[in-house]
Amino acid sequence: MAGTVQKDVAVGLDIGTSGIYVAVLKNGYGAKQELLGLGYSPSVGVEKGRIVNPEEAATAVKKAVADARAAAGVAFTSVYVNIDGPELAAGPGNVKRAIARRQVIARRHLQELYRHLCETVLPAEWLVVQLVNNSFYIDGKHVDRPLGCRGRELGMEAVVLAVPERQMEQTLLCLRNADLKIAQTVAGPLAIAQTVLAGVERQLGVVCVDIGAGITKATFINHGILYRLNVFPVGGGHITADLAVGLHTSLKAAERVKIDYGLGSIAGHVNVPNLSGTDCNVISGELVHRIIRSRSEEILEFVKQFIKNLKLEASLPGGIVLTGGGALLCELPELARDYLKIPVRRGYNVLLEGKASEDAYRYTTAVGLALWGTEHGQANCEAMRMAEGGFVGRFKSWLR
Ligand SMILES: Nc1ncnc2c1ncn2[C@@H]1O[C@H](COP(=O)(O)OP(=O)(O)OP(=O)(O)O)[C@@H](O)[C@H]1O
Ligand SMILES: [Mg+2]
Repeated sequence: MAGTVQKDVAVGLDIGTSGIYVAVLKNGYGAKQELLGLGYSPSVGVEKGRIVNPEEAATAVKKAVADARAAAGVAFTSVYVNIDGPELAAGPGNVKRAIARRQVIARRHLQELYRHLCETVLPAEWLVVQLVNNSFYIDGKHVDRPLGCRGRELGMEAVVLAVPERQMEQTLLCLRNADLKIAQTVAGPLAIAQTVLAGVERQLGVVCVDIGAGITKATFINHGILYRLNVFPVGGGHITADLAVGLHTSLKAAERVKIDYGLGSIAGHVNVPNLSGTDCNVISGELVHRIIRSRSEEILEFVKQFIKNLKLEASLPGGIVLTGGGALLCELPELARDYLKIPVRRGYNVLLEGKASEDAYRYTTAVGLALWGTEHGQANCEAMRMAEGGFVGRFKSWLR
C-alpha cells in the first residue's frame, strides 16, 4: 500500500457501468479541498450502474484504488461509494411520536423516530442508501437540533433514498473482496449534483443530468435541497451499441465514430471497419447522424418527462447542467436546448480544472463522493447510525 494514512483525507469511489473512478481529496486549511490523486480501471461485473458480479468488479476496483493510492501517495481503506441503478428511489417520509411527560429529547428518541421513518417509507427488502433533507419539529415547530429540548411531540421529515437489498449486498461484497471499508453509501446523482452545480443554481432551481454509459440520472435541486431524483436505463453506451449494430462494425469502431462525429452533421460517407476487421463498410454520413440523434433524443425525452413531472409553475431558472462522460457527445448541449427549450450547459467540478476534458466529466461523481465525505460525512453518518434498523446494522451482522 502506497504512502501513509492521513486523517483529513476523503476518498470517493464511483463504480460505473464503463469505468471505476477513484478520487482522493484532502481537506486543507480553511476547508479548502485539494485533489491529491485519481485512479481508474475499466469496469467488469457492472451492468446499468449495478454490480452483478462482485468478485469480478472487485478486481477492477482494486486496480483503480491501487492507481489512486500511488497517485496520491496516501494509504486508505475507507471510501465514500456511490449507489446508482435504475431502481434507486427517493421516498419522502413524515413521522411523529409522543414524548412522555415532556422528557428531554435524547438520542434514543431520535433513533426510534429514524427507525419508524425507514419502516414507513421502505418497501419490504429495500435498504436505505442515505437520508436527506432531515428536519425536526417539536410540538409542530421547526427546530434545528432537537437533542436536549423538551416537548410533547417530536416530528421528523426526511427523504429516504433506497435500493433493493440485493443491490446493496452486491456492493458490500465487492468492497469486502477489494479489502475496502464503506465510510458511507451516497446516492450517485446527489454526489454529482453536489459537485457540478453552482450555489446560485441550487437556490434558483436546476436539473442536473449525469449521462453515463449505462444509465442517465436526473436530479432536481431547488432552494438548496433535493426535490426529485430519477435514474433512467439508457446512456451513452446505447448510442455506441446502436452504431455497432447499424453500421455492422465492432463496439470499438462504433465508439470511435461516436466520439469523432457526435451530433455534428456529416457530409458524404464514413468508412468503418467491418466486423472481422478485414475490410471497410462505406456508410452514408446521414445514417450515422440519424442513429446518434435518435438515441440522444430518447435520452432527452426521459429528461423532458422528468421536468414535466416536476409540474413547475415557472420556467427552470437554473436551467439544465449536463455531466458524465455521455455529456461530452459533440453538440449535445445544442440539441438539448432545442429539444427541451431550456438553457443547457455542461458542468464539471473546479477541482478537475486543467484535466483533459474527458477526465473532467468522467471523474465528476468520484470527486462529488469525496467532497460529500469532506463536507457532509460526519452529519450523515450520524443519521445512518441513528437509523440502525437500516442497512448499517443489518449488514454489519450479515457480513460477520
Ligand atoms: N468524447 C466523447 N463523446 C461522446 N461520448 C463520450 C465521450 N467520452 C466518453 N463518452 C461516453 O461516456 C460514457 C461513459 O461515461 P461515464 O464514465 O460517466 O459512465 P459510467 O460512470 O461508467 O457509467 P454509468 O454512470 O452509466 O454507470 C460512455 O458511453 C462513453 O462512450
Ligand atoms: Mg457514472
